Amino acid sequence: MTVSLTYIILPISGCDASVLLDPTPTIDSEKFAGANNNSARGFEVIDQIKEEVDKVCGRAVVSCADILAVAARDSVVALGGPWWNVRLGRRDSTTASRTTANTDLPAPFMDLNALTSTFQKQGLDAKDLVVLSGGHTLGFAQCFTFKDRAHNDSNIHPKFAKKLQSLCPRTKSESDSNLAKLDPTSTRFDTLYYKNLLKQKGLLGSDQALFGGGNTDELVRTYSEDANTFWKDFAKSMVKMGNIKPLTGNIGQVRHNCRRAN
Ligand code: HEM
Repeated sequence: MTVSLTYIILPISGCDASVLLDPTPTIDSEKFAGANNNSARGFEVIDQIKEEVDKVCGRAVVSCADILAVAARDSVVALGGPWWNVRLGRRDSTTASRTTANTDLPAPFMDLNALTSTFQKQGLDAKDLVVLSGGHTLGFAQCFTFKDRAHNDSNIHPKFAKKLQSLCPRTKSESDSNLAKLDPTSTRFDTLYYKNLLKQKGLLGSDQALFGGGNTDELVRTYSEDANTFWKDFAKSMVKMGNIKPLTGNIGQVRHNCRRAN
């Protein structure tokens, strides 16, 4: 349960819970944006937490956005990672935007420049990019997200490429949802993700882009050698990411059901 929780929450531990909204005639659900479709999962776990929290409080006082932010932190702690203080008081959106999700979320095929500018648009710098990508110390990715890299990239360890090619053949689209671990110790919040980048064993193009002669190489090396610095910086950047344009005051609402606006 903890593990599946982590997989949904970490990548989306944003700020207004818009990703949780199901489609309606007026909600263009972000669940179907390119980066989320058939990928974001575990929504039923959030429903369960929300129900329990509301039961204890007697009514809906804790937003789905705050629940996501706390659950992301607690999942990381449960898998052996750092703790951080989550500032609370976010409110939930009443709308969603699949278009914005499509334009703003980074893609696994991006190079370092594209990744940097995608993060920059959200007020996150290159250090945030490198350390938050360390979230890929957990979880899985589907074949179609690394197929091109497995077959065509040159900055990939040959044996690793071979393994991926057999899991993810070039021409067989029925294999497109086969899963590979983003890091061999995919249920442990450790530094193996970075150690593997040094060996050209990053699973996604966007992972390996962080170590390949660009200006983030040094930081990757640091995190690969120093778990404490990785933890400290990860915690700091999670707080920063979790505070991107939160809805507060009278803006937005506290949803009764995380899947629908009130
Ligand atoms: C740097 C830009 C990023 C890109 C391009 C990216 C891309 C991806 C992709 C393609 C997957 C696999 C999805 C699938 O195949 O269904 C994935 C999974 C994941 N990502 Fe990221 N990601 C990025 C940043 C992050 C950040 C900032 C975090 C959290 C701090 C994160 C945490 C995760 C986790 C935990 C999974 C595993 C999900 C699962 O197993 O269900 N990612 N990411």
